[in-house]
Amino acid sequence: MQTIVIRADQERPDADGIRKAADILRNGGLVVFPTETVYGLGADGTNAKAVLKIFAVKRRPPDNPLLLHISNIEQLDAVAASVPSAAKRLVDRFWPGPLAIVLPKSESVPYEVTAGLDRVGVRMPGHAIALEFLSACGVPVAAPSANLSGRLSPTCLEDVIEDLDGKVDCIIDGGSCPVGIESTVIDVTGERPIVLRSGAVSIEALESVIGPVVIGFSVGGSESVQQDGLPAPLDRYRHYCPHASVVLFEGDSDARISTLGDWIVRLMSEGKTVGVAAPTESIARLKVLVGNGFAAQELGPASDLSRIAAHVFSALRALDRDGVDVILVEGIEESGVGFAVMNRLRKAAERNVVQCRSDN
Ligand code: TXA
Ligand code: MG
Repeated sequence: MQTIVIRADQERPDADGIRKAADILRNGGLVVFPTETVYGLGADGTNAKAVLKIFAVKRRPPDNPLLLHISNIEQLDAVAASVPSAAKRLVDRFWPGPLAIVLPKSESVPYEVTAGLDRVGVRMPGHAIALEFLSACGVPVAAPSANLSGRLSPTCLEDVIEDLDGKVDCIIDGGSCPVGIESTVIDVTGERPIVLRSGAVSIEALESVIGPVVIGFSVGGSESVQQDGLPAPLDRYRHYCPHASVVLFEGDSDARISTLGDWIVRLMSEGKTVGVAAPTESIARLKVLVGNGFAAQELGPASDLSRIAAHVFSALRALDRDGVDVILVEGIEESGVGFAVMNRLRKAAERNVVQCRSDN
């Protein structure tokens, strides 16, 4: 299949190009589109056959539901059987934006979208091109992140091409995704709201609007919960896997640098090629400590957690493309969006987490 790439500008979305992409989607095709979080792999959410193509192309487990993307509130009333008052407050405060809300599904939503569940996740993205595209489509658009299942979500055209070139009909290139990690997901169908995935809308921000929430995903080895007692989706599948093995360095910040330095020297002496993703200041300190022999990805200043979030996935993918054997990642502060970034880094590293202490 020939994949066409349509370029779009956030400031002046090109109406013709976007209309063409929307026509492809309405005719049952797959269209990758940018959002503020990550790129989405979209199909007509009312067309079961088109939706099933998403699962085939991504090699996505058939029991993993898709989010519906909408551009106006009338569409929310069409896809949700009811909108509880907590959901209304979240919508008023955070939409359009990086929050997906799981609600009771209406009959109009095919079970292919929800993987057989009676609940549907809905999101209105805060991104000019995404909204322009969704409004041109005129139907709710089912879309997971536009990566092959298990791999990192793509945040720029190059990363989308790497996974999906030749497998989708069209890609809308909207440049880099400003948030850079996937949306926060909250399920409001039960008595207590349950957060199923962390994201740029923090737990504190959610609680300031609707009061206490239950953390439904596992943190530090805790069990994850969901309305029906199943584990949260992110805990059920392998996620965020670069090809190289990933080691995450947590703990005291000075100790992180010296331990990272020791690891770089040791791995290189074993003949391994090493990539490092870390805040800008840390990369500079490591170069002073051990020289330039490693592939470096600067994530931005350590104090700018939003900027780090925006760069982290593309940095890991870039190191993978460099073909390094091992990727070493420095942990960051766990406040605000830093918490969501660390959730993902721990998944990428699986069990390879090094706790760094200054007395080492
Ligand atoms: O930022 C995002 O949310 C991006 C952009 C493209 O919108 N999309 C995205 O989709 O990350 P995906 O499919 O990669 O992740 C959505 C997560 C999955 O873990 C899925 O299991 C969960 O949301 N989810 C979707 N519908 C659900 C439902 N009805 N009940 C529980 N979890 C649901
Ligand atoms: Mg995904």
